[in-house]
Amino acid sequence: MGEPTPEQLRLLAVEVATAAGDLVSRGRPDRVEVAATKSSPTDVVTAMDTASEQLLRERLRAARPADGLLGEEEGHEPGSSGLTWVVDPIDGTVNYLYGLRSYAVSVAVVRSDGAPHPSTWTVLAGAVVDPSGGETWSAARGCGAWLTDARGTRALSVPSGPELGQALVATGFGYDARRRAEQAAVVARLLPRVRDLRRIGTASLDLCSVAAGRVDAYYERGLNPWDFAAGWLVASEAGAVVTDFAGGPAGDHGLLAAGRGLHPVLLEALR
Ligand code: IPD
Ligand code: CA
Repeated sequence: MGEPTPEQLRLLAVEVATAAGDLVSRGRPDRVEVAATKSSPTDVVTAMDTASEQLLRERLRAARPADGLLGEEEGHEPGSSGLTWVVDPIDGTVNYLYGLRSYAVSVAVVRSDGAPHPSTWTVLAGAVVDPSGGETWSAARGCGAWLTDARGTRALSVPSGPELGQALVATGFGYDARRRAEQAAVVARLLPRVRDLRRIGTASLDLCSVAAGRVDAYYERGLNPWDFAAGWLVASEAGAVVTDFAGGPAGDHGLLAAGRGLHPVLLEALR
C-alpha cells in the first residue's frame, strides 16, 4: 500500500481532531484544575490535555499503525512508514484553564527522515479544530486550505496585506521569564508602528486567523512543533508567506506569517 494522498490525510486529521475537540469542550468541568507543570510554573497541564492526547494517539494508531506520533504531553513514538502525526491535544491550555473560549486541538502529519523536525520535515496535511467557535480549519499540501463552520466549507485566501501602520498583528509569549523580557522589548518597539497587537493565546488559531484575514500577521519566537505544524500549513496553503525572522524556514527560533505585501515590511520591522 502506497502513501495516502494529502487529501486523505487531511480527512483523517479533521476526523481525529474533531473527536478530541468534542471531548475537550464537552468534558470541561466548571473549574479546571492544574494537573502538573512543565517548563515553568506557568506552563500547565490539565487532565484534559492528557485525555485528549490519549484519544488522538488511540485513533491514529488504529487508523495508521505504522506511522509515528509526536505529541505535546507524551513525546515522540517512532513509526516505520516515514509519516509522523504531530499533535497538540489542547493548544491554548491557559485559556482553557480560565474558561476563555480560544483554544484548539491541532493535528498535523509530516513526512520526515528520522525524528520529525521543522527544519527537515514536509507537512502534508493538518487540521485545527476550535470547538468553542464551531470552526474547523484544514489544509492539504498543494491542494489549499479551508474553513468549515455551520454555514459550510470555504477555501481560504490571504490578501497581500495593508501597510505596516494599518496592520493588526498577533503575537504570543513563551513560558520562560527571560524570553518574555526579550519579547516585551520587541513589543515595545513594534506597537507604536502598527494598528494594534493581539495576544490570542493559541498559536494554531493565530495562524488560522492569518489564513482567514482576521489578523494581518502573526509572529512568535519559541514555538513548539505541535503549536504550529497544522496552522503553518493552513496559513501557507491559504497563500500567506511563513518564514523565520531572517526569511528562512520557520521554526522554534522564529515564525512570521503574513500576506505577500506585508511580510517583507514586518520582517524588516522585527529585525
Ligand atoms: C501555547 C499557545 C500560546 C503561545 C505559546 C504556546 P499551549 O501553547 O499556543 O499562544 O504563545 O508559545 O506554547 O501551551 O497552550 O499548548
Ligand atoms: Ca498544548
